[in-house]
Amino acid sequence: MMKKFVFGNPLETEAMTDSRATPGSPAEEAGSVPYLSVSGGSEGESCVLTYDMGERDIIYGLGENVRGINKRGWIYESNCTDDPLHTETRRELYAAHNFFIVDGRERFGVFVDAPQKVTFDFGYENRDGMKITVSPGGFVLYILEGENVREMVKEFRRAIGRSYIPPRWAFGYGQSRWGYLSADDIRQVVREHREKGVPLDSVYMDIDYMERYKDFTVNEETFPDFPRFVREMKEEKIHLVPIIDAGVKIEEGYPVYEEGMKEGYFCKKEDGTEFVGGVWPGRVHFPDMLNEKAREWFGQKYSFLLDQGIDGFWNDMNEPALFYGEDNLDEVFRKLEDYGNQELDIKSFFGMKNLVLGIANRKEDYETFYHQYRGERVRHDRVHNLYGYNMTRAAGEAFEKLKPGERILMFSRASYIGMHRYGGVWTGDNCSWWSHVLMNLQMLPGLNMCGFLYTGADLGGFGANVTEDLLLRWLELGIFTPLMRNHSARTTRRQEFYQFGHTEDFRNVIGLRYGLLPYIYSEFMKAAVTGDMMFLPLAFLYPEDRSAAEVEDQLMVGEAMMIAPVYRQNARGRYVYLPEEMKLYRMRSLDSMDQEILPAGHHYVRAELNEVLVFVRPDQVVPMSQGGCCVEEVDMSRLNLLHFVKTEAVCELYHDDGVSRKIDFEKGITRITVKADGTIKTEGMLDPECCLV
Ligand code: GLC
Repeated sequence: MMKKFVFGNPLETEAMTDSRATPGSPAEEAGSVPYLSVSGGSEGESCVLTYDMGERDIIYGLGENVRGINKRGWIYESNCTDDPLHTETRRELYAAHNFFIVDGRERFGVFVDAPQKVTFDFGYENRDGMKITVSPGGFVLYILEGENVREMVKEFRRAIGRSYIPPRWAFGYGQSRWGYLSADDIRQVVREHREKGVPLDSVYMDIDYMERYKDFTVNEETFPDFPRFVREMKEEKIHLVPIIDAGVKIEEGYPVYEEGMKEGYFCKKEDGTEFVGGVWPGRVHFPDMLNEKAREWFGQKYSFLLDQGIDGFWNDMNEPALFYGEDNLDEVFRKLEDYGNQELDIKSFFGMKNLVLGIANRKEDYETFYHQYRGERVRHDRVHNLYGYNMTRAAGEAFEKLKPGERILMFSRASYIGMHRYGGVWTGDNCSWWSHVLMNLQMLPGLNMCGFLYTGADLGGFGANVTEDLLLRWLELGIFTPLMRNHSARTTRRQEFYQFGHTEDFRNVIGLRYGLLPYIYSEFMKAAVTGDMMFLPLAFLYPEDRSAAEVEDQLMVGEAMMIAPVYRQNARGRYVYLPEEMKLYRMRSLDSMDQEILPAGHHYVRAELNEVLVFVRPDQVVPMSQGGCCVEEVDMSRLNLLHFVKTEAVCELYHDDGVSRKIDFEKGITRITVKADGTIKTEGMLDPECCLV
């Protein structure tokens, strides 16, 4: 059951698709909010919602965020921010995912539908206190109740609409790097993978492919005859995925800039002139993604690349990231001159340092420009968290027209709930740190709760220098995430698998992904179609188990499987908690795995650097293929079944053509029944030859 409460004059975010849940439809009195006490919130004032948490209450949710699966014990901000140092002390990342569930003494879900900054203090100021602060401006609050957390998530997901579904090839492995400067650089990446037998489906094109970082251009010197290059890659079964940035370079003669100016599609300041910010291309204007017309215009621009054969994109810098606001920059230079004319003492030295360090993503800059939103002029900070969402929506809506019927890969850095209908997210600029492997795992359930199913982290880490063991361990988690991409920053150590010695380990681990593809794709599609989660905290499946509720480093992946990746340097195993008896498959490759039945309880399980641990639940089956060098080559006619059958297991395998937008879920299902005596029966779309392993 979901109740809706309207505070002040909220702006429609279109997070909800269920018309009963949108502003303007009947709502309860704000004074009668259950669970939470409300104070403040009148015109120009923040609204504060508080709750006394029970000692054992757990908080799940908040999507892309730092810290654990249980969000209790820290303070989080929804304020989409570009900051590449995701340390424990951070409060905000790139996303604003304002949905969470309290599970404990009482059980309820909260969605704060507010596009402005919101702070969630879950036991920071006061260990047992919850305090949500919504910055001035109206908002809509939804309170959910339900039998159990998983059902509540489903109800929420029904209200926000079906999650984005990418093409099937986007479940393959992708190699990326900021610094592939030419078509030849990309050819080399492909060659290394193909020659060494390491599967690959996509290569990502970072800002280097553009002509001086201008959106919807291709550098003709470094990428000559681009359509031909795209075709050449397609013949190699490689999809090229270019990046699109939010800021449009200010340059006479550049059509995107000129059209945007002519039509008045860029964000403007109070005085009606265009706001100027600095990003990769230098001085840019920001398309007004909240203005329907501008959005439509920007979306159509993707045709420049679609027409050349491109079928996937990643949207970046769309918080929007600001290296500087030009007006402030002028002010900074003036002040620096003053500093230059004096002897720097303790005060002035730090004053100067902070002045320079603080020029990016300034709150004050975000307060100086405006959007045309549904016929009203709205200051940016009031709708800050909707910018990346609407950039991705621009693309998503355009794809429906430009490529009707076809799925196009799309994921974004900044996001808000609602964007999950148009694209996935990657979790931004992490680092090559062991702690970020764990953080990657811990974010997944929260992201799924908020509708983001197509998601993954920069495997190996974006910033800092990777080591071979870290990359391998991270890939061992990445083989389960829908988006499986190795990406790194320009000045860091190269981190393609072939920079390291043990090619066979990489071939085997990445190969496992292609083996698992039938299962990963099926579980993803089930989660998308039924509004379920693909990655669940153990407690969502074992709600009565107190120990399960404390597990922060294992996840259920779909119905059949539990994963427990190794995320510590030099570890050759790890402790694992089993809520019930399970069968462990210790996998080294598609042809080399051993198995062992483990009783419920705590275990120390060995896992060498090249070994992946998969735990199969009782009466469950995990279908695996024989692998392939790319998704297209995965043969669905011969399947190996991981299994732990005590009486009978039924597995629902989903398959389709991988590109059609229209999903006929029932038609795509193949039911594989395995009996305790080993007999196997299949019925449905496919008729695979199955073999128990
Ligand atoms: C941002 C992105 C990163 C990309 C870089 C250059 O930092 O998050 O993925 O490589 O910009 O485009």
